[in-house]
Amino acid sequence: MGNKSRLFGLSCILLAYYTYIPIPENIEEPWKMRLIDIFMKIATLTVVLLLPVLKVVHSRSKKKVYIWFTFISVKCVNSYLNGDDDFNTGLFYCGSPSEKLTGKLHCIFMGRDYRLAPQYLFPAALEDCIFAIKFFLQDKVLEKYGVDPARICISGDSSGGALVGSVTQLLQDDPEYRNKIKTQAMIYPKLQIIDTWMPSYREYKDGPFLSRKLAIKVSIRYITEDEELPEAILRNEYMPEGSRDLFKFVNWSHFLPEKYKKNHVYREPILGTLNASYPVLLDSRLSPLLVNDSQLQKLPLTYIITCEHDILRDDGLIYVTRLRNAGVPVTHEHIEDAIHGAISFVTAPMYLHSGLRILDKYISWLQENL
Ligand SMILES: *[C@@H]1O[C@H](CO)[C@@H](O)[C@H](O)[C@H]1NC(C)=O
Ligand SMILES: *[C@@H]1O[C@H](CO)[C@@H](O)[C@H](O)[C@H]1NC(C)=O
Ligand SMILES: *[C@@H]1O[C@H](CO)[C@@H](O)[C@H](O)[C@H]1NC(C)=O
Repeated sequence: MGNKSRLFGLSCILLAYYTYIPIPENIEEPWKMRLIDIFMKIATLTVVLLLPVLKVVHSRSKKKVYIWFTFISVKCVNSYLNGDDDFNTGLFYCGSPSEKLTGKLHCIFMGRDYRLAPQYLFPAALEDCIFAIKFFLQDKVLEKYGVDPARICISGDSSGGALVGSVTQLLQDDPEYRNKIKTQAMIYPKLQIIDTWMPSYREYKDGPFLSRKLAIKVSIRYITEDEELPEAILRNEYMPEGSRDLFKFVNWSHFLPEKYKKNHVYREPILGTLNASYPVLLDSRLSPLLVNDSQLQKLPLTYIITCEHDILRDDGLIYVTRLRNAGVPVTHEHIEDAIHGAISFVTAPMYLHSGLRILDKYISWLQENL
């Protein structure tokens, strides 16, 4: 056997090893899941720069507005919108259901570009989002676009869910903007960064689609370039001394419905092993779950979709419990056979039936509630 074929054989074995994941039994379309997972792993090797994108989805006929957050890779952005004072219309599409929404809801999309990590770390992108939303929520701007100020929704998926959570909380705290948001809608949101060893993080640590390592890497790019932090997070030993009090807000042993706890045993995180200090880890603008109940009480009607095969499942489930405990009306859909990212796969040829189902549920909920 020649060197070339040996090399080829070795590469195949390595690729198979690298891309192999046990696909859960009850999952629909397993071969597509595998392809998507492989795609994601290869993409992880090549695409490292992620940025948050804000879209304002504006339905002319129905005079309501969705503001959509998602994290997408730079290269996929079709058009940037510019100027601080004027929104140009344009269509963003990549890994988000914007195209489908436009079709079903007769919408136009707007957005603007953001200061990017790693040059601009947290909270630069969040501040930009807040700035853009506050600009948009001015009476004169709403009027210009014929928007009914009583029918505005903030929405987003995955890391965009963190933006939705914190933007909604921050606006409710601001007397000028309180009650301007009718509803927040989150699809498998990422809502905290202080406990990465919840049951879903254990069960789905290798994916499908989003592995624990990737989730941690992506969130940390937004905070620091220091390599020590992600390593410490992987060991779940990174929160500073004195932060124990925050764990009551995300304590899964307290907030997770019994069904999802299975045989997992709650393990308190080990504190104080990290030398560097990252105050951002304690910041509720990064982890919207870190606010107390009186802050949650102010929040508007909430829609949350969680997927079973998703490391972020428990973030969403805990937010559902906490919001309901605080008396906030919540519609929660749990999709038993879906993976993280499912709603990004709604266009041929790589569509998932579960993605289409989620999108249908989401759209009909918006149609009824916004
Ligand atoms: C988490 O909740 C469990 C059960 O409610 C409790 O025993 C434990 O002390 C809590 N831990 C923290 C850090 O809040
Ligand atoms: C952290 O501090 C310990 C003890 O002071 C030291 O031994 C270790 O090298 C430090 N680690 C880093 C990454 O600076
Ligand atoms: C909740 O948090 C807010 C902001 O940190 C604080 O002002 C308020 O006193 C807290 N409320 C309770 C009941 O702890």
